Amino acid sequence: MATGRSFKLNTGATIPAVGLGTWKAEPGKVGEALKVAIDAGYRHIDGAWAYDNEKEVGDALAEIFKQGKVKREDLFYTSKLWNKFHKPADVQKAIAETLGNLRIGYLDLYLVHWPVSFDGDKKTLDDKSTITETWRAMEKLVDEGKVRAIGVANFPEYLLQDLLSIARIKPAVNQVELHPHLPQPKLLEYCKKEGIHLTAYSPLGSGKGLLDDPVVKEVAKKTGKDAGQVLISWGVARGTSVIPKSTNPDRIRSNFQDFELSPEDIKTLDSIKTHHRTCDPKEFWGIDLFKDGEKGNL
Ligand code: A2P
Repeated sequence: MATGRSFKLNTGATIPAVGLGTWKAEPGKVGEALKVAIDAGYRHIDGAWAYDNEKEVGDALAEIFKQGKVKREDLFYTSKLWNKFHKPADVQKAIAETLGNLRIGYLDLYLVHWPVSFDGDKKTLDDKSTITETWRAMEKLVDEGKVRAIGVANFPEYLLQDLLSIARIKPAVNQVELHPHLPQPKLLEYCKKEGIHLTAYSPLGSGKGLLDDPVVKEVAKKTGKDAGQVLISWGVARGTSVIPKSTNPDRIRSNFQDFELSPEDIKTLDSIKTHHRTCDPKEFWGIDLFKDGEKGNL
């Protein structure tokens, strides 16, 4: 039995604690995965323009609604503004394309995918003036009713500070990589203090060995659950929503079975941090966004 836990955003809306991640969900598989997820009880779906599967997600949602399985208002749908759309006019184009792909009328949450702008081949870390321009365009989407809430992804504290200093509408969410190998307690504490909800992406470590960590396996054995359920439950226990990706029906179903870990098991899982990121723009764009090397950042 899933616990059915959820969190309140600073907009007053409710976000279900466990959602289906669609990053790297293969075209041809993601639609079916979504249908299995809805039948299993998921009501929170995490997507993005850049995942290149929004059309197929939209087709699956249309079928799901037609069958009367859920109503639009029962779903919490997140999408993200890609880096090449940070200019205000492009923000309007991007949301039009995403809503056209999904055909769900509005988004529950729209995130700035990275604090990095692309201009052709040029990739630049946003400064305060760039993010201000983009954020004003994001705020307009709320005013226009195209999205219910706005937020960011992959924002470290120093960039959140810039954003908070100019925001008319506070970001509701920051979506970042979070799991026991990369727990980011300082960012969690800062976001809690500022009323920004954190969503954990790659909660299972994105196929890089976390599921096979002996400590995770030991807690799984002790609790009679599987490693995925343990990692998801650890994330939910910290007050973060968690978006495991799977296109495998059995794993989609089992990942939705979160449970309450004991304080002792949480402590055990807290001890395995390696601070290793599986997703770092230093590696793919040559940008030291997270500044993990600077003292006290992690
Ligand atoms: P698959 O789609 O075949 O299930 P993350 O959400 O951390 O990025 O992890 C996603 C990866 O973990 C995918 O490769 C996914 O593959 C796999 N995965 C998802 N759920 C589980 C699970 N419960 N046990 C093992 N692997 C899983």
